[in-house]
Amino acid sequence: MTEFAWDPESYRALMAEEIPDYPRLQAELSAAVAADAPRTILDLGIGSGLTAAEVARALPEAHLFGIDDSAEMLAAAEEALDPTRTALQQSRLEDPLPSGPFDLVMSTLAVHHLDGSGKADLFARVAAVLDEGGRFVLADLVVPVDPADVITPIDGIEDTPSSLKDQLAWLEATGLHPRVHWQHRDLAVIVAQKVHLG
Ligand SMILES: C[S@@+](CC[C@H](N)C(=O)[O-])C[C@H]1O[C@@H](n2cnc3c(N)ncnc32)[C@H](O)[C@@H]1O
Repeated sequence: MTEFAWDPESYRALMAEEIPDYPRLQAELSAAVAADAPRTILDLGIGSGLTAAEVARALPEAHLFGIDDSAEMLAAAEEALDPTRTALQQSRLEDPLPSGPFDLVMSTLAVHHLDGSGKADLFARVAAVLDEGGRFVLADLVVPVDPADVITPIDGIEDTPSSLKDQLAWLEATGLHPRVHWQHRDLAVIVAQKVHLG
């Protein structure tokens, strides 16, 4: 089986076709991210940097660390983002994360490529690289309660979204405090906070 190859040239058109609410998802993530003006941000699956660029515009003081598996998407991100406050690395979500600590970890439409145990494992590693009081903002596809709310085509191989309920439970199991910031049909933004220890 050939793995899907991400193409930064056709990426916007693909999003418009398959995820009509992608701009809304980006706006909801950006609003949640900007809420407490984080200075150090890790973006998991930064892709061509479309969402990261919105966040960077809203937070001119912030430094961004982006990881992605695709060299092509990372090359486009390098063009799109300010090199003086961006670092990019080709790696997988399954690999050890940059150690941080980060004020904020974000991810848009990448985590649904992991299966359930892969997500739970990633969430534990995210919690470990967050600073105390830091937050994880996850904007992604979810399996909606009502099957009529499935909008985005899911192949079940590369795309393995999970329910909101499962993802909130996996986040809670790491010690983070998750809440749903926004949900519409098969899209959601979750904010999970690492509480101060004292
Ligand atoms: C739908 S794009 C989202 C890109 C970007 N976050 C955005 O908001 O436009 C998904 C990205 O996740 C990356 N990706 C998928 N699975 C990955 C994995 N296991 N490890 C690292 N990157 C992955 C792909 O290479 C692609 O760039």
